[in-house]
Amino acid sequence: MTRSFAIEAEGLVKHFGDTVAVDGVSFVVPEGSVLGLLGPNGAGKTTTVRMMTTLTRPTAGTGRVAGHDILGDPAAVRRSMGLTGQAATVDELLTGRENLRLIGSLYGLDPAYIRRASDELLERFSLADAGDRTAKTYSGGMRRRLDLAVSLIATPPVLFLDEPTTGLDPRSRVELWEVLRELVADGTTLLLTTQYLEEADQLADNIVVIDRGTVIAEGTPLQLKDQSGAAALVVTVSRPEDLEIAEQMLRDHVAEVHADRGARQLTAPAEGLGHMTRIAGLFAESRIELDDIGLKRPSLDDVFLHLTGHRAEDDLADDQTEEAS
Ligand SMILES: Nc1ncnc2c1ncn2[C@@H]1O[C@H](COP(=O)(O)OP(=O)(O)O)[C@@H](O)[C@H]1O
Ligand SMILES: [Mg+2]
Repeated sequence: MTRSFAIEAEGLVKHFGDTVAVDGVSFVVPEGSVLGLLGPNGAGKTTTVRMMTTLTRPTAGTGRVAGHDILGDPAAVRRSMGLTGQAATVDELLTGRENLRLIGSLYGLDPAYIRRASDELLERFSLADAGDRTAKTYSGGMRRRLDLAVSLIATPPVLFLDEPTTGLDPRSRVELWEVLRELVADGTTLLLTTQYLEEADQLADNIVVIDRGTVIAEGTPLQLKDQSGAAALVVTVSRPEDLEIAEQMLRDHVAEVHADRGARQLTAPAEGLGHMTRIAGLFAESRIELDDIGLKRPSLDDVFLHLTGHRAEDDLADDQTEEAS
């Protein structure tokens, strides 16, 4: 059988009493690609991951992982996936190496294989020197890396990561991104949840934005940026004293101009490349010197604000304190 999707969610619903945590979420993740499940705190990301990884049963809907139904064959689902949850699950009293050995033997892997794979994983996650220390001596970043290493010992083809970098310092975050890119290059299919737009932008081939349990947008990072709001035409004049006359000139050709004196910049709704080229021509014929003229696309931050009515960072404060270590 040829499978094109490593992960499929089909109308997933989850109620907790009166709380509707997930309200009909569907998506597919092509084999070997990365899906970013992006949403603010409380959006339903963890609940979706828990349903897809058979940790909690959907109220309605179903899904498949590596072709196996999460309701029909949960054991096969668990054999084909790894999961790194939001809270680290490493055993603090064991060393890094012992944590790896424990999980490896739970999977029934051959001891010689476990030894070799543990060495490789500790090396890959920059834990080789710390491998024989108990995990309680590890920093937050090291625990995250050990957690990820543990979820990889059985080399699952599909990996779920729930907010893998929340609470990590920027350097550890970039290091983890590197490791994840290597995994994907080796063929792993990745679903990661994140509140960091930048992270989705960096890693994901496709993004599904969820808010209050429903999908409110999806597409490639580029498509999402295109969807949300028009691009802006931005003109930067070289001499501050030209700003006013440049503004007058621009007003004859666009609906609305915003002037920023400090930045020597004029911003107007963009009307396409041809329009911009004509305006650039007008400036070229005038005596106004420009530092720059161009189109500015909205950032993913703008997209998020546009879609949800709030910035992603608004929700981060709680998590950061909770996971700082
Ligand atoms: N075990 C639970 N019991 C009751 N409510 C829950 C439970 N788990 C999650 N919720 C609620 O479901 C909603 C979605 O939560 P969650 O999936 O953790 O969101 P996210 O991971 O996007 O922050 C939230 O309102 C949360 O309070
Ligand atoms: Mg969560």
